[in-house]
Amino acid sequence: MDITELINISDYEREARARIPESFFGYYAGGACDEITLRDNVTAYSRIKLRPRVLVDVSNRLFDTTIMGCPTAAPIIIAPTAMAKLAHPDGEVAIAWAAKNTGIIQCLSTLSTCSIEEVAAVETAKWFQLYVYKDRQITEGLVERAAAAGFRALVLTVDLPVLGVRENIMRTGLQLPPGVTMKNFEGLHNTEAAAIQSYINEQIDPSLSWDDMKWLISITKLPVWVKGILRGDDARRALDCGVAGVIVSNHGGRQLDTAITGIEALPEVVAAVGSHVEVLVDGGVRRGTDVLKALALGARAVLVGRPVLWGLAVAGQEGVEQVLDILKREIDNAMALCGCPSLADIGPDLIAN
Ligand code: FNR
Repeated sequence: MDITELINISDYEREARARIPESFFGYYAGGACDEITLRDNVTAYSRIKLRPRVLVDVSNRLFDTTIMGCPTAAPIIIAPTAMAKLAHPDGEVAIAWAAKNTGIIQCLSTLSTCSIEEVAAVETAKWFQLYVYKDRQITEGLVERAAAAGFRALVLTVDLPVLGVRENIMRTGLQLPPGVTMKNFEGLHNTEAAAIQSYINEQIDPSLSWDDMKWLISITKLPVWVKGILRGDDARRALDCGVAGVIVSNHGGRQLDTAITGIEALPEVVAAVGSHVEVLVDGGVRRGTDVLKALALGARAVLVGRPVLWGLAVAGQEGVEQVLDILKREIDNAMALCGCPSLADIGPDLIAN
């Protein structure tokens, strides 16, 4: 299939399913338990209705912006997703090139299959997502390497004290295939043929608490985002610890099933901390109208996870670029049809009660 025939994110998802092994697709696509939150992430957006303004001159539309001072061509960020080489042999480096060519910020996962340094060789704005390892020396090492490699921010993920119940992985017993490793740990521990579920539960620290957040902020000069907040009181507490920004997220429906969706939790978090720090949201963003809805409800930008993996699975770097371009085209169209020539025009009045 010629990829120009793929015109939306669902087309890419269907094509990705046809191109990669079923167990890899299942790892990417799946969620926790009954996948109620996974489905809700998408349907929550479709339940929100827009109130378009008419007779506004929308002949010139701009949607480039900054996110915590980082310029971006659109209010979207590539979410950190583990193990990109299960989609394509070029892995996270291909995503980095696509990010550079489309002017979009990439957030690299701790559990990447290309190393921090390999990805940093593609010179573009990048953030590093951090899981805190039981071994704090490993954790500090990651933080130092990310800073030395020029990453602009850290994203501390706090919604994975243990792995969610991923029944698709339990059934397939997903293991890293030959030649694919968690590249950031070379020389530290062996991740060859690692079984993903047991690796995460063995290495990542379930005792992580607010004091550890303060500790992390104290050991780095990089701004720290907290990712995985779904309550206003937790956002406030994170702010008191010194985070630079908050990412409202349920981890793409992969952790606690029946958890509230990001877009539903967003207003509470924005009310709690939005006047102090930038707030981002993710989970289920598949259309330009979804991005408008998130911005209207107070997000500075959204993160997209699976759509990027679908692009990567279908056509490597080019596929990721196409996916990001589709989202940009749809944002542009939605802004025009809502009477919003600029991002500043996107406000809560666009949302029907
Ligand atoms: C993730 N996510 C994730 N988050 C994180 O902080 N560190 C990680 O290593 C991963 N790994 C990961 C792997 C895969 C395959 C997926 C799908 C997701 C969660 C991710 O950052 C983001 O929160 C969700 O993907 C957003 O939802 P959508 O856009 O995929 O619906």
